[in-house]
Amino acid sequence: MHILVTGGSGYIGSHTCLELLQAGYQVSVVDNLCNSSQESLARVSRLTGKKISFFRVDLLDPSGLDEVFQKQTFDAVIHFAGLKAVGESVGKPLVYYQNNVTGTINLCEVMQRHGVRDIVFSSSATVYGIPESLPLTESAPTLINLITNPYGRSKLILEFVLRDWQAANPDFNVALLRYFNPVGAHGSGEIGEDPNGIPNNLLPYVSQVAVGQLPRLKIFGGDYETKDGTGVRDYIHVVDLAIGHVQALDRLRQNPGVVTYNLGTGNGYSVLEVVSAFEKASGQTIAYEIVGRRAGDIAACYADPSLAKSELGWVAERGLDEMCADGWRWQSMNPHGFPMAGK
Ligand code: NAD
Ligand code: UFG
Repeated sequence: MHILVTGGSGYIGSHTCLELLQAGYQVSVVDNLCNSSQESLARVSRLTGKKISFFRVDLLDPSGLDEVFQKQTFDAVIHFAGLKAVGESVGKPLVYYQNNVTGTINLCEVMQRHGVRDIVFSSSATVYGIPESLPLTESAPTLINLITNPYGRSKLILEFVLRDWQAANPDFNVALLRYFNPVGAHGSGEIGEDPNGIPNNLLPYVSQVAVGQLPRLKIFGGDYETKDGTGVRDYIHVVDLAIGHVQALDRLRQNPGVVTYNLGTGNGYSVLEVVSAFEKASGQTIAYEIVGRRAGDIAACYADPSLAKSELGWVAERGLDEMCADGWRWQSMNPHGFPMAGK
């Protein structure tokens, strides 16, 4: 089977390409490299001994995309390509809606023209907005006015776009995967997350403090109603997440229509627990200070992942210590990320 991976040179995409190749799939990637480097895929090919066809194409260029589908025949698409910086999306909403929503619509149109009927989509726990209760099941409300930023709203809009598309084309199959907080790196230390500039997310920030590139972590809020006052999240190892995509592809072959799964571990860890686990994994002291809350943050968010277990046979197997150890291996082997990565 031949899978097209959009955004495949990015963080989660590159790990998924590796798992797909190891599971025996043929893989092609479309990416415009706006937030990644082709070096990630060169490393995936090296690690697996298998080739990936790469097309530098923007999803906002429908004819470029059509040419890719003319050259190759695909059995399914895994769609990662999108912009994902929450803060940036507040300042550039039109860029985010155009890239994420229009880009996905272009992709669906080309898939439809070429009779490619299965798509796995990168959604996010952000669609739950402010949770009414925890853990979050897939049937928890997703109210657009409870989502605090255009990035998050683009994900919920796309869930509706894909549902409506499938309803009009019942032969098509859609898996909406709602990721919780992906962290860590492949155990080889060869691929991992390579953010541009100062990281917004906790784990990349902590790693850069550990490696000496940033002086100290600012912990956003110490007065939440959580176990120690700091924010609680469901961190999931990126390799477990990648494997979830391979299992979702199998599910789509059973023609289920639209399916939605939380991909998380079901465990919530506080910022202080993450800092302590990272100190243990790295042997470094992480300097930090507790500052005011970050606008738009919620106190706690973690998944009920039981539907993915019962329907996909998928369970996150890697715990927080392994997430930190693998994240640290990647960061210490590649203190400046990939050479020339989107910089
Ligand atoms: P990433 O930025 O590393 O990967 C996204 C890739 O898409 C990049 O390689 C980028 O160059 C490419 N891209 C963006 N716009 C494009 C376009 N118009 N045409 C072609 N390529 C384009 O991000 P990631 O962390 O790997 O995230 C992958 C997906 O998962 C995204 O859709 C993101 O919104 C979603 N997601 C990520 C997280 C997270 O915390 N990392 C959480 C939930 C959901
Ligand atoms: N945090 C800090 N200091 C930092 C960065 C983060 O204290 O420098 C705290 C946050 O306040 C929060 C926790 O660490 O309590 C996690 O924050 P992240 O920014 O790493 O992750 P978020 O849960 O805010 O959001 C992430 C992605 C979203 C995605 C969401 C759910 O950025 O795109 O997970 O999947 F939608």
